[in-house]
Amino acid sequence: MVEETMEKQYFVITYGCQMNVHESEKIAGILRKRGYVEAKSESDADIIVFNTCCIRENAENHAYGNIGALKKLKKTKPDLLIAVGGCMTQQNGAAEKLRKKFPFVDIVFGTHNLDELGALIDRKTGTKKAIIDIWEKEGEINETDNSFRTSFPNAWVNIMYGCNNFCTYCIVPYVRGRERSRDPEAIIAEVNSLLDQGYKEITLLGQNVNSYGNDKGSAFTFPQLLRKICERKEKFRLRFMTSNPKDFGEELIRAIADNEQICNLVHLPVQSGSDRILRLMNRKYTAEQYLEKVKLLRRYIPDCQLTSDIMVGFPTETEEDFRATLDLVKEAKFATAFTFVYSKRSGTIAAQMEDQISEEVKKERIMRLVELVNTQTREQSSAYRGKTIEILCEDYDEKKGLYMGRDEYGRMGYFQSDKNEVGNFIKLKITETSGVSLVGQKEE
Ligand code: SAH
Ligand code: SF4
Ligand code: F3S
Repeated sequence: MVEETMEKQYFVITYGCQMNVHESEKIAGILRKRGYVEAKSESDADIIVFNTCCIRENAENHAYGNIGALKKLKKTKPDLLIAVGGCMTQQNGAAEKLRKKFPFVDIVFGTHNLDELGALIDRKTGTKKAIIDIWEKEGEINETDNSFRTSFPNAWVNIMYGCNNFCTYCIVPYVRGRERSRDPEAIIAEVNSLLDQGYKEITLLGQNVNSYGNDKGSAFTFPQLLRKICERKEKFRLRFMTSNPKDFGEELIRAIADNEQICNLVHLPVQSGSDRILRLMNRKYTAEQYLEKVKLLRRYIPDCQLTSDIMVGFPTETEEDFRATLDLVKEAKFATAFTFVYSKRSGTIAAQMEDQISEEVKKERIMRLVELVNTQTREQSSAYRGKTIEILCEDYDEKKGLYMGRDEYGRMGYFQSDKNEVGNFIKLKITETSGVSLVGQKEE
């Protein structure tokens, strides 16, 4: 007889950035504390939670499509709870829209009350009515760590929430509220505890880590935080994202240079290479200032690699503006970049701008941009052949039958081993390079 488990099961579906991935770990933690165990698939679950993103229209469409697809399952399983949270629900009018479109959704919550999910489930129990609870304003930072971490040997640690920058295309400040920094003591205690548990890589998260502490009178800055964390002398890697170029400076560069544990990889989203577009985007730097920072970074840390976020098709972008972006990509020698087609977000300043760019032009530009970025990535990858790199093993790739990990610059390396290597630092002699990934032989 098949043994039936009495435990209730959860399934969390995540869209969006690392911040959301980590918040899904918090959601999973809350559910586990209430006795739920992880379901293997949606159809086994007693509760399905969508942790949504609305950074671009396709992220939203994706979530809407997947929520809609659950209607059938809910019919056959009326006790199934469906909860929708994350950035999408936090937009003006989104909760209403969800309720109308998907009356079978049980709970709608936002980014500011994620920690209350347990209480919302209680409120739902015994009532047929949907529970819709979106806070307009951010609450106090909750320091209870509920996270059920799923990314060993890496662990994500929030250092701040929200964003004050209001780049004109971006929805994040509207759905995540103003910047709030966690106390340095709380962050350091969390990092120390993770290192004690054997985590080998810590990634600090914030929309703009360089503004860490600004809301507390800058008594403790981001470079100071990095230095403090690096007082732990055992071998581990420290990463952070994201840095906004406008306040990326020498003090931070020196902190990276001085500390072995901080990876020599900086993710510095440039968005565009055209000063006119950067001004319209409210990014507060010029292409030249950006490149000066890159130069300074490479002066202190010659082997430092750089990745970026780049957008095409911002309103009014001309062929000349776009070419300036291509020139900047070459000049900055990005190791790789996330490339995006501008997507109109209702409520943002750019959404009101005239001269939105046609889909056709956007498509043509993104293809040219992707090709350039990929060419650079491949060129830089091929330089790895014959070299020995150190990777931190993260996972076993079933399909390839190989272990995989990343070097400090984020390049993926694959190798064969007879024992479980997850969490080990491995020296790999690279024998093959293809696109972004590398294959090598483990050196003893
Ligand atoms: N806080 C980070 C970015 C978070 S959003 C920073 O400032 O660097 C991640 C990326 O999504 C952005 O860097 C931008 O390139 C892209 N993005 C944001 N809004 C967008 C929009 N409306 N359309 C297309 N891409 C967008
Ligand atoms: Fe969005 Fe700009 Fe804030 Fe980044 S810094 S989250 S792009 S508003
Ligand atoms: Fe992240 Fe998307 Fe929200 S990128 S902050 S989950 S809008």
